[in-house]
Amino acid sequence: MKIWVPYESVAEVLSDLPGVACTVYDGTGPEPDGIEDVEVWIPPLVTVPDVPGTLARMRSLRLVQTVTAGVDAYRPHLPEGAVLCNARGVHDAGTAEWAVGAMIAVLREFPGFTDAQRRGEWTYRHTGVLADSTVLIVGYGSIGQALERRLDGFEVEVVRVARSAREGVHGLAELPALLPGADVVVLLVPATPDTAGLADAAFLSRMKDGAVLVNAARGGVVDTDALLAELKSGRLRAALDVTAPEPLPAGHPLWSAPGVFITPHVAGSTPASDRRMLRLMRAQLTRYLAGEPLDNVITDAY
Ligand code: GLV
Repeated sequence: MKIWVPYESVAEVLSDLPGVACTVYDGTGPEPDGIEDVEVWIPPLVTVPDVPGTLARMRSLRLVQTVTAGVDAYRPHLPEGAVLCNARGVHDAGTAEWAVGAMIAVLREFPGFTDAQRRGEWTYRHTGVLADSTVLIVGYGSIGQALERRLDGFEVEVVRVARSAREGVHGLAELPALLPGADVVVLLVPATPDTAGLADAAFLSRMKDGAVLVNAARGGVVDTDALLAELKSGRLRAALDVTAPEPLPAGHPLWSAPGVFITPHVAGSTPASDRRMLRLMRAQLTRYLAGEPLDNVITDAY
């Protein structure tokens, strides 16, 4: 069985599985030969240049196993007969940790103090604080749960929102009523047609003065122009690991907007994710070869 894997490390953990022939393709450089025989594709974290074209030429494809939680790049182009599985759980620790760090960085004004440090200035002042805040988690999946576990101990109130309401979790329809009560709003929803532009001007206008928007989802979940307007007015602050457009081009107004802390989509890019990713790849391929049900199959409920 021919598999395209993104890294040598993945080829190594699969190397003793029977009948598996791995080709490493990290999306840079020339595409390897034999694309029409690829049965399983594990695309790289920073994906290949032409996902639709690549998928269209994979005529033997049965499984796309992503190393990402998000599958927005693959889902609309999946060929008939192929199954799509995501890396649910792999990035929980890294992304949740980033979100905690990012909200603290903004509330405690670390980026401003870093600027002052570079200038050699002692800029004493009071700052905001996470303690006693209400943190609204929009997209309460496995990363949201990991975030809540990490927030335990910061003396905050966590409010949970998911696509549909369940015990202890509000439905998306309740968002307008919940936004005005939140000091920090964390976006963790998958990018789907339903969540495109979710944080639009109306959403942002319902956030309270001085609140912080944290985006660890996808750039397209936020209306960038609407966010820029709120940042420029000084009413809201933000921590963004993802942007629209992405990568954020040099000179884009978001770079210089006040009150925004930007990282280049790195929340899940850590050794913790790598270790979990390798465990998942081995487990999934073992299941696949044994004809057992796979984990993390993307269905309409994604
Ligand atoms: C990262 O962005 C992911 O989707 O896992």
